[in-house]
Amino acid sequence: MSRIVTLDEFIIRSEKANVDATGELTGLLRDIGVAAKIVNREVNKAGLVNILGVDGASNASGDEVQKLDMYANDKLIECLQNSGECCGIASEENESFLPIKALSTKNAKYVVLFDPLDGSSNIDVNVSVGTIFSICRRKSNVKKSVDLKDFLHKGVEQVAAGYVIYGTSTIMVYTTGNGVNGFTLDPSIGEFCLSHRDIKIPARGQYYSVNQGYYLKFDLEMRRYIDYCSDLNLRLRYIGSMVSDIHRILFQGGIFLYPNTRKYPHGKLRLLYECNPLAFVVEQAGGKAINTKLERIMEMQPVELHQRTAIVIGSPDMVDEMKEFVERYSASPSQQF
Ligand code: AHG
Ligand code: MN
Ligand code: MN
Repeated sequence: MSRIVTLDEFIIRSEKANVDATGELTGLLRDIGVAAKIVNREVNKAGLVNILGVDGASNASGDEVQKLDMYANDKLIECLQNSGECCGIASEENESFLPIKALSTKNAKYVVLFDPLDGSSNIDVNVSVGTIFSICRRKSNVKKSVDLKDFLHKGVEQVAAGYVIYGTSTIMVYTTGNGVNGFTLDPSIGEFCLSHRDIKIPARGQYYSVNQGYYLKFDLEMRRYIDYCSDLNLRLRYIGSMVSDIHRILFQGGIFLYPNTRKYPHGKLRLLYECNPLAFVVEQAGGKAINTKLERIMEMQPVELHQRTAIVIGSPDMVDEMKEFVERYSASPSQQF
């Protein structure tokens, strides 16, 4: 049996291997790991306690909020506020960013952006949900309080990003720009243990993942591409939790699409909380992520915190193929119907 490597041990070892590392990022990743364990505990007992159901409020993006969303949000904020390494937080569940007062000895230089619970409509029916996070370096002076521009980073500027999936097992997957590793929570010892080293996404796969119910609301080229996937007998899988759909694709190959629709002309998913961090992970694993204008997700310049974008992400050859469809069909307006 090979020796178990815990998340903490792995993070510390990686830090030691990097001569420029100061330990701050290490601390942050560990704190996110702790928050994930607390959220995991609550997600697992969600069916037992009266924590289910719609809270009644709407989040900053206008979506319905469920109680566990707020619980996860509060726990992440709590852990990061006490971390000493984080100077500001932006969450899908908060209208505005939260500045964090520097502890007396520290001039924290990282901001953390997150979707505390992704796929929350799945909670009531015991289907996987997740947490997505993105860590960036602040741009303003460390002596001052953070401002909006400290959060409006392009994806390429992320220092680390990842997600936690609360599924049949709880797994944390993250990257610091040097490959992607996955850690499975062993409930018997309460530790995330290295289970998936240097994850590589297959160049193509058998799965496509899209809300096919919106088919008629997609642009022509997108409908053509979805028809093509269906003609190839690819398997359609759509969980309604981006983390879960991407997790499958990361390991088994495939493509995830959330294009613009009439309801969401700029796409539904949030650039800073969902698309950028997952694009960083997928690209680091060898995949690709673009929007329906064929721009790389990680090069989009955000102009607001809750900005949405259309996204196509997954196996590199499949994303390239989709790109060809868009180029071909957008070049032939006579084929509109
Ligand atoms: P959240 O629960 O954080 O609001 O995110 C849900 C997102 C994403 O995870 C999922 O892929 C998508 O919304 C599902 O949207 P549709 O129901 O419109 O397909
Ligand atoms: Mn989400
Ligand atoms: Mn959410």
